[in-house]
Amino acid sequence: MGRYATGVARFYITTPIYYVNDAPHVGHAYATVNADALARWHRLIGDDVFFLTGTDEHGAKVAEAAAERGVAPAEWTDITSERFRGAWRGLEVSNDDFIRTTEARHHATVQEFLQRIYDNGFIELGTYRGLYCVSCEDYYTEEQLVDGKCPVHGRPVIEMQEDNYFFKLSAFEQRLIEWYESAPDAVRPAGKRNEALSFIRGGLRDISITRTSLDWGVPVPWDERHVFYVWYDALINYLTAIGYGHDEERFEEWWPAVHHLIGKEILRFHCVWWPAMCMAAGIDPPAHVFVHGWLLVGGQKLSKSMVAARAEEGEGLAKLTEIAPELLTSDFGVDAVRYHLLRDTPLGTDGDFSYESIVARYNSDLANNLGNLVSRVATVVGSKCGGIGPAPDADSPLRPAAEEACKSASDAWERFAPHEALEATWRLIGAANAHLEATEPWKAEPGPAVDAVLGSALEALRIVTLLITPAMPETAEAIWARIGLSGSPGGERLPDAAAWGGYPGGLAVEKGAPLFPRRKP
Ligand code: ME8
Ligand code: MG
Repeated sequence: MGRYATGVARFYITTPIYYVNDAPHVGHAYATVNADALARWHRLIGDDVFFLTGTDEHGAKVAEAAAERGVAPAEWTDITSERFRGAWRGLEVSNDDFIRTTEARHHATVQEFLQRIYDNGFIELGTYRGLYCVSCEDYYTEEQLVDGKCPVHGRPVIEMQEDNYFFKLSAFEQRLIEWYESAPDAVRPAGKRNEALSFIRGGLRDISITRTSLDWGVPVPWDERHVFYVWYDALINYLTAIGYGHDEERFEEWWPAVHHLIGKEILRFHCVWWPAMCMAAGIDPPAHVFVHGWLLVGGQKLSKSMVAARAEEGEGLAKLTEIAPELLTSDFGVDAVRYHLLRDTPLGTDGDFSYESIVARYNSDLANNLGNLVSRVATVVGSKCGGIGPAPDADSPLRPAAEEACKSASDAWERFAPHEALEATWRLIGAANAHLEATEPWKAEPGPAVDAVLGSALEALRIVTLLITPAMPETAEAIWARIGLSGSPGGERLPDAAAWGGYPGGLAVEKGAPLFPRRKP
């Protein structure tokens, strides 16, 4: 089986760090759960994993959100950052660290890293004049505006004029192009790589990276009248968490073999600015940026500002309550929500988010396929084998199906395609259900033939359980215990543990309540 692009058994994965202007929604959950499943998969195959998420707490947008509530920014960010932490706990997210950009460790790293860029001669003073959207924390040109407003948020932009420090991004045009050409998989999918590359080829302008109009930020070490622009500090979180500047050994273990999972609206920051910043500071650019699409509601990007605007208008509140991660999980269960997020919108494309599509996916894949297989096998083992699971048949027709599923699933995880990994796993579930229907062990006399069928169904289920562990950790634990296995599926090591024949037989199989009771469509 192929290893991932960097060729080392170390897997450092990051999510964007989320702005704490408001509470987390299901769009953030989409990114975080996908990163989590990838991290869990890599742990399962024995890689050394470091999974980082966190919150982006500086800048005008967060300062405004705090001011609107009449609290100090520090107080507001404490509250909101905790909501993100809580949301991820509630979704069984297994991050190894949670970074907040207001932490002292981050301030120290930002100052150290940017001082290096300054010392290397890539930061200079200039005057900035331009149009700025606070919701984006980004600049626009006249031509980019739609009806004179921000093309993403539809909010008015503000005219800014400040004496600022500039990062000489323009100096990196050629080096960036060379980097893109030498590392064809550094930005994926290919369409996003092309988008970034043609942006660079179109010519790069220097960027204003400090503010004097704001004090909610990381102070500029060489000129304390300024704080850094929020994006210029935020990107550096990926270095803070692995010890840049204070633990060189650790830093070199994890950098540059990183996988940044990001949404498509922040491509330019991660695929143009960030590699250039790394070059300017004298470190390698990140090995891999994977750009995912948006969950859309009624064709519109789900965003915190949209949620707030709709709430203000007293509109669509029933709908809004459906998109808070914790409300979804209390309705469907954590694993059903995770499954939906991983299965319905392939990483790299946009997807429509709707309550109906969660229900449809739940009924077809979880209740009718997986849940049905578990309860069927347990029921027939109860009636035909006295509740003791038999050993599998070495020549079962399910064996090639299981081998195919394992191979396709691991290929898919390597390619950042969780939906395909799950599709492959569900083909095995389908094959196991079809095998039971074809052989009808519930109608047969107890004996070796029935034992072979049921043992093989149990073995297929054991392999399914391993393969769903990254997506549905709680369900995997539950099935593992029901078929009498000890320990935990997450403690197994693939691919060896998923080889056919691992179910020993002679274990008590427990029927239990339905894992996924069918829901009304
Ligand atoms: O951009 N569909 O933070 P943010 C899918 N702080 N994913 C979505 C989504 C949607 N509708 N809405 C948000 C920032 N996301 C910066 C990042 S990184 C150094 C700094 C996800 O709170 C998606 O991953 O606006 C997107 O890129 C991220 O949340 C942006 O979150
Ligand atoms: Mg955003």
